[in-house]
Amino acid sequence: MVDTDRTAQPTRTAADLDGPKPVPLLGNLPEFTRGRVTHRVLERWCDEYGLTYRFHLARHRVVVTADPKVLDVVMRKRPDDFRRSGLMAGVLDEIIPTGVFTAEGDQWRRLRKMATQSLNVAYLRQYFTTITQVTERLTRLWDRAADSGESIDVLDQMMRYTLDVTVALAMGHDLNGLETTGEGLHSRLPKLFPEFARRIEAPFPYWRYVRLPRDRRLDATVREIEAVVRERFVEARARVASGADPANFLEALVKPLEDEPAFTDDEVFGNMMHMLLGGEDTTSSTAAWTLHYLAEHPDVHRKVRAEADEVLGDRKFPADPAMVGRLKYAEAVVNEVQRLRPVAPYLVMQPLKDVTLDTRDGRLHLPALTVLFVLIAYGARRDQVRFPEPETFRPERWLDGSMPPESLPYTPFGNGPRFCPGRNLAMIEATMLASVLARGFDLEPDRSAGEVGEYMTFTAFPTNVAVRVRRRG
Ligand code: HEM
Repeated sequence: MVDTDRTAQPTRTAADLDGPKPVPLLGNLPEFTRGRVTHRVLERWCDEYGLTYRFHLARHRVVVTADPKVLDVVMRKRPDDFRRSGLMAGVLDEIIPTGVFTAEGDQWRRLRKMATQSLNVAYLRQYFTTITQVTERLTRLWDRAADSGESIDVLDQMMRYTLDVTVALAMGHDLNGLETTGEGLHSRLPKLFPEFARRIEAPFPYWRYVRLPRDRRLDATVREIEAVVRERFVEARARVASGADPANFLEALVKPLEDEPAFTDDEVFGNMMHMLLGGEDTTSSTAAWTLHYLAEHPDVHRKVRAEADEVLGDRKFPADPAMVGRLKYAEAVVNEVQRLRPVAPYLVMQPLKDVTLDTRDGRLHLPALTVLFVLIAYGARRDQVRFPEPETFRPERWLDGSMPPESLPYTPFGNGPRFCPGRNLAMIEATMLASVLARGFDLEPDRSAGEVGEYMTFTAFPTNVAVRVRRRG
């Protein structure tokens, strides 16, 4: 709908938008990347220049928007009218075969079906035992840390935890990164995201001509994962062909979809990689922030514990996803953490054809393939009406019934047809961790490593989150 007052205004183009002043050659790149908190820079500019503005990445003008009207259209009209950034997809597809995150058009439709099939609620019920087993392993480590008084590097541990869960669910392989010291897949996989981000931001694709040691390490990591996946591939195909119900993502992926040709090996490998990557850094950062907020807010911690006592009773772990669903306060804590510390604060997209968008300040014309930064987390951090005192951490705001999760402006898992297919799994993991750990342990923040901060590569990570734990008194 176009409101009549605004149709009287001339249609603007990207060149008419306000924005920070670029410097010669580099544009706004230095300010954008300084301190590796690009999402905070984009939000600050949004406060200064309005909900839709422009800035320059070197010589390229790009548009940024946090306007709910635009977000709604851009997120919903995929894959036909908008795509993910072609630059990002190109860089990723060079490293691993195309998967659901980078695919477009009909290929995306096929791969998306495969991804949602392997993460649907029925499978999650089946995977649940694996999630509790890994959580149990983690609580044993916390017991040991309580005995020794050693500080826990929370992000590192959460990365190992989510990787153990994802690899086990993905292919029935027990990585046990939680208890493994030294180098291995568990230590190399988390380095993939920073490498992707580095290449996306590189002014020149040097790796096509010269391989630096870090590029060779990247190749080696991908080959190593590929070897593990392909090893299990044959077994998975044989099991599914024998009529057995799929017991992990891989088996779900090799099960032919009705009326669809079977997926190729590359499609399965690509999608597996996208699941592993999608499931690891995002969930681990959310879980790490959650533990940080619990350590910093003893009153909230007490409420999570009281709820866990009531819901879990004699059980140490929830019996099934439905029981996790009853941990409403712990879930509200995770929602509030994601509102304040979104791990995917913006998405980069491009219109596939020339478009004219209704914005809050009139119409905006964008030629096909304009690079568009979509700030999906800004609204929930600024909206005074939906989120009174938006800067305050207050999980109770999620429990008064006024806030249906996953609607604008709160969309930590994205929106529209490309909405995150791992949402349920991520919420189960983060809610269960909050509940089980808060129930069993007292947490004390350890600030010896420095101030808690954040940095952004492909997703946003917390830094210096460390806690000391004691068994519940
Ligand atoms: C707290 C945890 C997580 C957050 C905040 C998160 C967030 C997101 C966001 C914002 C998107 C983009 C959605 C869009 O374009 O509209 C996305 C896509 C995706 N996520 Fe997640 N995610 C999380 C966990 C997971 C998990 C556990 C998995 C799988 C195991 C996963 C797999 C994916 C995949 C495959 C996509 C691409 C979907 C597509 O393009 O169709 N994510 N996620």
